[in-house]
Amino acid sequence: MSIKTIDPNSISIPDLQGYLQAAVAPRPIAFASTLDKEGQINLSPFSFFNMFSTNPPILVFSPSRRVRGNSTKHTLDNVLEVAEVSINVVNYSMVEQMSLASTEYEKGVNEFIKAGFTQVPSTLIQPPRVGEAPVSFECKVLQVIPTGSEGGAGNLVICQVLLIHVQEQYLDANGRLDTTKLDLVARMGGNWYCRASGDALFEIPKPLLTKGIGVDVLPASIRNSTVLTGNNLGRLGNLEFFPTSEEIATLRTQTEVQAALQQGAEALHQLAKSWIEAGKTEEALKILLLEA
Ligand SMILES: Cc1cc2nc3c(=O)[nH]c(=O)nc-3n(C[C@H](O)[C@H](O)[C@H](O)COP(=O)(O)O)c2cc1C
Repeated sequence: MSIKTIDPNSISIPDLQGYLQAAVAPRPIAFASTLDKEGQINLSPFSFFNMFSTNPPILVFSPSRRVRGNSTKHTLDNVLEVAEVSINVVNYSMVEQMSLASTEYEKGVNEFIKAGFTQVPSTLIQPPRVGEAPVSFECKVLQVIPTGSEGGAGNLVICQVLLIHVQEQYLDANGRLDTTKLDLVARMGGNWYCRASGDALFEIPKPLLTKGIGVDVLPASIRNSTVLTGNNLGRLGNLEFFPTSEEIATLRTQTEVQAALQQGAEALHQLAKSWIEAGKTEEALKILLLEA
C-alpha cells in the first residue's frame, strides 16, 4: 500500500479544499435562511454543518471567506446584522432547487423566489423557513467565530435551536423521525452528492449499552482469517460473551456445520461469514471456535 502524505502548507488552497471536502464527507446540508438589517431575505446551502450539543441544542455551520477575492458571503453578513437563522434540512426532492439557490446572486436577491421554494413565516424569529424542507430549526445565533482572515477561512456560526418544525409525513408510528422516509442528501467532494436511501442505509447494533468482548480476544485463526472481513470481525468483537464449550459443542451436530468442518477451515469461515451477515453472530462465533 503506497501512501501519499500531504503537508497542507505545500499545496494551493483550492487543492487543499479538494482533499478536505472529498475526505470529510458525506456532510449534511444546512439550508440557511437569514435577513439583513433592511429585512431582505437570503437563502443559501452550507455543508460545513453539524450538531454539536443536545442540551442546549446547538447547530454550527460555516460560511467561508471566498478563496478568490477573500469576500464574505451574504449569509455571514446577515447573521452579524440580525442574529437569527432558519436552518432547513435538505432531502432528495429539493436537491436541484437547493443547488440553484447556491448561485452567487447579488445582495438583495431572494433565493426562495429564484429557486422556487415556499417561504413560510417562522414563529419566534424573522427569517422564514423553507416550506418544502422535512425539518426546519428556528435558531438564534449565539456567536460567530472566525477561523482566520484569509480566503478560505471559515466563520463558525453557533446557533441555538429555539423551535423545531417537522413535516408529519416523515414521522413513524411512534412520532419519531423515520430515517427511511426522510431521504436526506449530503455533500461529497467536487460536484458529488449522496442520497441516504435504499442500500445506502444500514443499521449496526449500538455497543453503547453492552461492552463487546473485542477483536483482540478472538483466537489468531479467526483474527487472521482470509475469509472474514474487518466488518465481520467488528461484529464478532461486539458480542458480549464468549460462548461456553457446551454451547460450542451443540453446533457440531448440525449437518451444514459438519459438512463445512469436513471441507476445512476456509469452508467453516465462509459459513460463519454468511451467518454473521444474516445476523446470527453468536452462532457464527460458536462454529468458528469449533475449529480454532
Ligand atoms: C450543497 C452546498 C453546500 C455548500 N456549502 C458551503 C459551505 O459550507 N460554506 C460555504 O462558504 N459555502 C458553501 N456553499 C456555497 C454557498 O452556498 C454559495 O457560496 C452561496 O452563494 C452563498 O450565498 P450567500 O452569499 O447568499 O450567503 C455550498 C454550496 C452547495 C450547493
